[in-house]
Amino acid sequence: MCVELAGMGSKIVPRQYVVQREDHPTVAATASIPIVDLGRLSQLDGNADEVVKLRQGMESWGLFMVTNHGIEDALMDEMMDVSREFFHQPLEEKQKYTNVPFQKKYTNLNDGKHFPLEGYGNDQVISESQILDWSDRLHLKVDPADERNLSIWPKHPESFRDVLDEFIIKCDGVKNSLLFEIAKLLKLEEDYFARQFADRPTTIARFNYYPQCPRPDLVYGIKPHSDATNLTILMIDNDVGGLQVLKDGVWYDVPTIPHTLVINLGDHTEIMSNGIFKSSVHRVMTNSEKERISVAMFYFMNLEKEIEPAAELVDEEHPARYRKVKIMDYFAGLFEHFLLGTRVIDTIQLLPS
Ligand code: SIN
Ligand code: FE2
Repeated sequence: MCVELAGMGSKIVPRQYVVQREDHPTVAATASIPIVDLGRLSQLDGNADEVVKLRQGMESWGLFMVTNHGIEDALMDEMMDVSREFFHQPLEEKQKYTNVPFQKKYTNLNDGKHFPLEGYGNDQVISESQILDWSDRLHLKVDPADERNLSIWPKHPESFRDVLDEFIIKCDGVKNSLLFEIAKLLKLEEDYFARQFADRPTTIARFNYYPQCPRPDLVYGIKPHSDATNLTILMIDNDVGGLQVLKDGVWYDVPTIPHTLVINLGDHTEIMSNGIFKSSVHRVMTNSEKERISVAMFYFMNLEKEIEPAAELVDEEHPARYRKVKIMDYFAGLFEHFLLGTRVIDTIQLLPS
């Protein structure tokens, strides 16, 4: 079922959105998240300062910010504008792109072509006790390109598809540069991740829309989770905060800096790095004054592949902390875990890290 939150215009938060009292969102400290200059980092020998910041981001936060990433401000603004225009349409228009309940698509997961939740909607209800997120979403599979389901790519605004096409290419370049740098940090061959991504990797674009909320103190825009990706590139509305990251049991606000990307390290990289790097646990708070929009690009390897700690990072002193798991199987558990606010990676772990 798809509730249009934006249209509710209510002062009251429906019961299904109210989180447990002990989980009520609290005011967080502002984090000093490392800001990496990607241009400088990617210079021939890497720039020592940028490498330090990248390592700090990967080891301490599982999250960092990136400037000088090569995506023009104008393209970022356009991507944000067309996303906003999509969400501002009447519900009937957006429902033309409604996603199919995931239980129904679940069985199709095995053909590798269908990504459950593709299309427009918000949390699917799978349990009475589930707490719903205060957001609407649009998921589109963008890679492999021949598996795009163009019938659910928005036709309005007219430029949506062209802008997204260009944005995908630019983000892909950022992702490739980061994968090289991450491999180098782990002292793996620099094309270690690039090789893993060589054969029909999957990319999902997700557009998040968080309408104003009368009681930000009671609800989550997105409940705490880590991303089931290798990495996620996130573009956030220029001046609307709300993203928070968990570190040592404390929630921190991630600052918003115009035209700066946020990179979330996902569970798959945590596993492949044998726990040297941590995926970030993050959540989004709502805002009573402003709506918020973000665009996330989720990068996965081929869904048929297995993920496991890189052999080079495992020895007697450093035993494998995670078991081998097929990405498809990882996904099979993902949606229930996400909707119920638990983490798949906890079920893959062999040793506490
Ligand atoms: C997400 O975690 O998928 C969304 C984060 C955001 O909207 O900032
Ligand atoms: Fe996320």
